[in-house]
Amino acid sequence: MVDLSTKYMGLTLKSPVIVGCSSLTNSIENIKEYAKNGAGAVVIKSIFEEQINLETNRLLETNDESLKTWTDAFNNMVSSKPYLDDEAYQYISAHAHQKTLQNYLDIIKEAKQSVGIPIIASINCVSQYDWHFFAKRIQEAGADALELNIYVLPSDFSHTAEENDAIYYNIIEEIKKYITIPFALKLGYYFSGMANSLQKLSKTGVSALVLFNRPYNPDIDINKLTITDNNLFSNMHEYSHVLRWMAILSGKLNCDLSATTGIHNWEVAVKLLLAGADSLQVVSAIYQKGPHVIKDINEGINKWMGEHNFNSINDFKGKLSMANINNPADYERVQFMKLYSKIE
Ligand SMILES: Cc1cc2nc3c(=O)[nH]c(=O)nc-3n(C[C@H](O)[C@H](O)[C@H](O)COP(=O)(O)O)c2cc1C
Repeated sequence: MVDLSTKYMGLTLKSPVIVGCSSLTNSIENIKEYAKNGAGAVVIKSIFEEQINLETNRLLETNDESLKTWTDAFNNMVSSKPYLDDEAYQYISAHAHQKTLQNYLDIIKEAKQSVGIPIIASINCVSQYDWHFFAKRIQEAGADALELNIYVLPSDFSHTAEENDAIYYNIIEEIKKYITIPFALKLGYYFSGMANSLQKLSKTGVSALVLFNRPYNPDIDINKLTITDNNLFSNMHEYSHVLRWMAILSGKLNCDLSATTGIHNWEVAVKLLLAGADSLQVVSAIYQKGPHVIKDINEGINKWMGEHNFNSINDFKGKLSMANINNPADYERVQFMKLYSKIE
C-alpha cells in the first residue's frame, strides 16, 4: 500500500501537495474543493499592509453607517479638516486594521470548521508595520501554522547585503515573542551568500523555508510605452531553479523545505521530492486548470511510487539531493560546456 502522508512543520499532511498562497484560498468553497481533491493543506491568501491602507482610504471616502458614530466623534473632536487630521486618520486606520483583520480571522475560523486539513495563514511583512498583532490573533483564530511572506528586493542602493539580511532576523525575533504555532519564511532568491544565509536562517527557530516566492514581474508594452504585468502565472519549466536549491539545501538545514514555483504536474512533484522538498505548493496550475490538478498530482505520485516500490514519501524524499548523489557537482554546474551538453 502506497502512503502519501508526510510531515511538514510538525504537521501531518495526508499528501505533500499544498495549495499555495493566493486568492484561490480566499473562499471557503474553494478550500473545501481543494480538500476534496486531496490537498495536504492550504495557505490562506496573505494579509497585506497595502490592504489595510486601501481599506483606510475606502473608509475615508465612504458614507458607511458603521463609521457614522466614529466620524461624528471626529467632527466634534477636531475642527476644520476632520478626515485629514492625523489623529482622525489614526482612528480610521485602526478601524480599517480591525475590519481587515476580522475578515481574515473569519476565513481561518470557518476553514477550520469546514475541512480537516491544516490551515496555514500568511502575512506579508516586509515593512516595520505592526503586523505582530495580526500574528497573535491568527494563532488565536486556530491557524495551524503561519507563513511569513518576506520579499526583500535589494533595490535600495544605500543598503548593504548585511542590512538586507537583518530584516529577516529582526522579523523572526519579533514573531517568536507573539506566537507558538510553527512558522515558515517564504523567501525570494536575492541572497548574496544564499546557502550560508538560508542555513543560518534555518537555525533561528523557523519551522520551514518556502522557496522561492515568485515575484510580481513587471513587463513593458512597446506599443503603448507603458509598464504591464504580463507574467502573472508561472510556466511548467520554471521549477528548475527551485529543484537545484532543494537539492543543495536538503539535509543541511535545521528546518523543513517547501517548494514553490513551476509545479504544474506530478512528474515535477516527484522530481522536487527526490531533490529533498518536504512539501510542494501549487498555485498557477490550479488557476489555469482547476482543482483537479491536485488529484492528478497525487495520483501520479501514487502510481510512480507503486512502480518504483516506494511505500512512503520518506522512502525516496531527498534520494537525489546533492548530499546523496555520486557527482554533487551536477547541481552546482552553471556554465554550458561541450562535455556536458548534447548540443554544444
Ligand atoms: C494571483 C496570485 C496571487 C498570489 N498571492 C500571493 C500572496 O498573497 N502571498 C504569497 O506569499 N504568495 C502569493 N502568490 C505566489 C504564490 O503563492 C506562488 O509562490 C507562486 O505563484 C509560484 O507558484 P506557482 O508556480 O505554482 O504559481 C500569488 C501568486 C499568484 C499567481
